Amino acid sequence: TYIVVDACIRCKYMDCVEVCPVDCFYEGENMLVIHPDECIDCGVCEPECPVEAIKPDTEDDPDSKWLKLNTEYAKVWPNITRMKEPPADREEFAQETGKLEKYFS
Ligand code: SF4
Ligand code: F3S
Repeated sequence: TYIVVDACIRCKYMDCVEVCPVDCFYEGENMLVIHPDECIDCGVCEPECPVEAIKPDTEDDPDSKWLKLNTEYAKVWPNITRMKEPPADREEFAQETGKLEKYFS
């Protein structure tokens, strides 16, 4: 499966949702996640993200932190299939690290 990682937090460009053939993105306030059981591993979304926030789960942290987070929140957040207005200040957060601890919601 593919997963969304911390680069998405507060960037949330949403280009990814437009290309997913199975509509398996779910929306939180500051980031999106992929439902790992619904993702068919097509890889189409990966190059669409301007901040490289989408990766195969083989590139997850050793403790599978991001796969766990995607799995958990895909169950409770609403599905998103259409791009919305992205955050106006998204570029300010594109290079920032440690965003999970600072801003995740
Ligand atoms: Fe959707 Fe394909 Fe991306 Fe999985 S890899 S989230 S199926 S676009
Ligand atoms: Fe996030 Fe990139 Fe999609 S910033 S919303 S994973 S296009």
